[in-house]
Amino acid sequence: MQNFKKSCVYQIYPKSFMDTDGDGIGDLRGIIEKLDYLKKLGVDYLWLTPFFVSPQNDNGYDIEDYCRIDPLFGTMEDLDRLILEAKDRDMRLMLDMVFNHTSTRHEWFQRALAGEKKYQDYYFFQDGTAGSPPTNWQSKFGGNAWEYVKELGKYYLHLYDVTQADLNWENKNVREEIKNVLRFWKEKGIRGFRFDVINLVSKPTVFEDDEEGDGRRFYTDGPRIHEFLREIVEDTGLDAEDVVTVGEMSSTTIDHCIHYTNPREKQLKMCFNFHHLKVDYKDGDKWSLMPYDFGRLKKIFHTWQEGIAGGNGWNAVFWCNHDQPRAVSRFGDDGVHRKQSAKMLATVIHGMRGTPFIYQGEEIGMTNAYFKDISQYRDVESLHYFDILKEQGKKEEDIYRILKERSRDNARTPMQWDGEENGGFTSGTPWLSVNKNCREINVKESLADSDSIFTYYQKLVELRKQYEVISDGSYEPVFVDNQGIMSYKRALNEEKLLVFANFTGQEQMVKQKENLDDWEILLSNYKYVTINGDRVTLEPFGAVMLYRKG
Ligand code: GLC
Repeated sequence: MQNFKKSCVYQIYPKSFMDTDGDGIGDLRGIIEKLDYLKKLGVDYLWLTPFFVSPQNDNGYDIEDYCRIDPLFGTMEDLDRLILEAKDRDMRLMLDMVFNHTSTRHEWFQRALAGEKKYQDYYFFQDGTAGSPPTNWQSKFGGNAWEYVKELGKYYLHLYDVTQADLNWENKNVREEIKNVLRFWKEKGIRGFRFDVINLVSKPTVFEDDEEGDGRRFYTDGPRIHEFLREIVEDTGLDAEDVVTVGEMSSTTIDHCIHYTNPREKQLKMCFNFHHLKVDYKDGDKWSLMPYDFGRLKKIFHTWQEGIAGGNGWNAVFWCNHDQPRAVSRFGDDGVHRKQSAKMLATVIHGMRGTPFIYQGEEIGMTNAYFKDISQYRDVESLHYFDILKEQGKKEEDIYRILKERSRDNARTPMQWDGEENGGFTSGTPWLSVNKNCREINVKESLADSDSIFTYYQKLVELRKQYEVISDGSYEPVFVDNQGIMSYKRALNEEKLLVFANFTGQEQMVKQKENLDDWEILLSNYKYVTINGDRVTLEPFGAVMLYRKG
């Protein structure tokens, strides 16, 4: 059995991972084909974003049937084989459970539209007249969060796309349906579950306008969220030791995350939060650019690491996923220092307290897409915002600059397996263009290079398994006298670990409290690290992990 504190999770975006049938869309067989590669990296869990039947408006996060596989990705037999083949290599699957909403094509919603009261109660339908929605809440993808259905004379709530209708968790029948879905996948042998935007599922019983914001304060970590989670988890046995659960928490707090993950609470094993990934949002707005605020980034990491540890909670730690631009382009340097900065960023995350997640392509240093035209974008959010920003009167060239940095498609370009046509991802036309830099940045090249980003990730994954101080140690921020450096200390009994990371393209000398002459270098992204008493010299984007016992 895998101990989740020593484990590492690898996220696969099936649509962009590996295509075996030439339709330009990745599939389950493609994942099977690449299992040896993933085994080589050393990861323990494979989180697969949704591959269930879906109209694919939000790339599978709009589910039409929770228990069937979308033919785009393959068949149930393919999945059974994938489960077995992964298990043979000592890896487990983690499925993505999207229970805040269903696709409007889901049978429940269709029956609600047909007038069945039972199914209208599965969602939030509110009487109303066209043009005056029940509240002023905003959808996360832009526009009002309520959609009017003329035939019914009612609005329904959708916090995301208009084709993603929010489920009413207050209704016990809905919770029972959800439990049955979980039981179905558990019986298939699935022991990992990721819960999509799960902290948004408890809505208030009275809907009112939000005069201060977009409505989120009424439903984020909502009134009955902890009770709901405990009920779902206990009734389906997800609190068992051999099951790993992770909740995606939007705009959450440390206190809530402790509550979600402290083992005493019997809710989830770990949480994602996103505060560290908003440090380049000007005034909190994703669609306004600014250089990232390093001071804030560091402070958020330190506060969350200490806070969660203090309450015996547990977090997932990560830079990248299918919703985030590539970290190396965002916090590193995807030009001259691409390799070093990718390794530096990896060191920061993999030395932390929490379970590290690697997003496909991160382990070879894949970069943002840098698309030039709206016709290249596919993501529903990007397409909406292209129109919204235009309506706001922004110039097209400015909108392109924003999308180039912020679009979720940056993360979704196909995996770069080799330097051939389409990066070896497909023999057909890819659903989203492959990054041109696949000629230089690809798996084949990485595996041939003993000093690659891949090799570095391999070591980090392995170190967590070897050193208890990494998986179980305490966390203490180290306040170095240098502005461009992030540093922290981990400790467990006699073991100590120190991490230094230089987020700048200049050499930096760090002075701190301890004499480090007798510390061992566990890992560094440069061949030589100069340590002199209490001083460490870090090369551009240099990082080092130091260790001492006793
Ligand atoms: C989560 C997913 C994202 C999706 C949204 C709505 O944030 O990660 O991709 O669009 O939920 O389901």
